[in-house]
Amino acid sequence: MGDNAGGTPVLELEGLYAGYDDADVVKGLDLRVDEHEVACVIGPNGAGKSTVFNVIYGFIPVRAGRIRFRGEDITASSPREMLNRGITIVPQQRSLFPQMTVVENLEMGMYLERDRQLVRQRIDYVLELFPDLAGRVKQEVGTMSGGEQRMIEIGRALMWAPRLLLMDEPSAGLAPKISATVLDTVQRLNKQLGLAVLLIEQNARQGLRISHRGFVMELGTVSHTGTGAELLADPEIRLAFLGGSRLRS
Ligand SMILES: Nc1ncnc2c1ncn2[C@@H]1O[C@H](COP(=O)(O)OP(=O)(O)OP(=O)(O)O)[C@@H](O)[C@H]1O
Ligand SMILES: [Mg+2]
Repeated sequence: MGDNAGGTPVLELEGLYAGYDDADVVKGLDLRVDEHEVACVIGPNGAGKSTVFNVIYGFIPVRAGRIRFRGEDITASSPREMLNRGITIVPQQRSLFPQMTVVENLEMGMYLERDRQLVRQRIDYVLELFPDLAGRVKQEVGTMSGGEQRMIEIGRALMWAPRLLLMDEPSAGLAPKISATVLDTVQRLNKQLGLAVLLIEQNARQGLRISHRGFVMELGTVSHTGTGAELLADPEIRLAFLGGSRLRS
């Protein structure tokens, strides 16, 4: 991959520090996502991956460093400002309303929007992107499969028509085949919409497979970076993060 990457940065993190209480969890992190690119962060539990999203999105403060979005300094923006700039998030904690229908859950992606016609247009837009959901808009989300629910969460994040989508472990907790389908969908949305995606994936092999660029995060900082293909082929990465095989799969 890497062939259709834009070369213009959409998101840049520079020397970023953040944490909780007295401890820094993110320690001097540098990371970049280009326009129209999928970038994937892999790394062990507790490395600080989700904390990076918390700090980008303004849920916790930046202690040092800088965040730029399309060249503009957005360090210390609030979640609302991030939304208005066109950055949306699919968080690690699952967050659908199980007793509400598909369409009601999608509407929640734009609950701040008063323009009902725009909300309806965006619902149509999302249902075109997820045709499998179109016939089931009145179904209660709690009665749907894990994979279907994940699609609805992604669809809800697309209601705002973002320029950058942050996704924290979208394939977690799903059967391997369904995980692969979810990541194929992320790749399709990237191609179809030109959407930039910053993905965190525990499923490192699958995450890197669909990514133009990858970052290995360990102990709050980036230890390795390269194209998705380079990281997949790196013997050290394979041993530590891709199931231990030195053989090509
Ligand atoms: N709200 C919080 N308050 C205090 N400490 C926290 C909080 N959230 C995370 N931490 C701590 O920060 C460190 C990094 O957590 P984080 O969730 O960013 O890791 P992660 O790389 O996303 O891990 P995982 O792969 O398990 O999702 C951990 O030691 C965690 O216990
Ligand atoms: Mg996490």
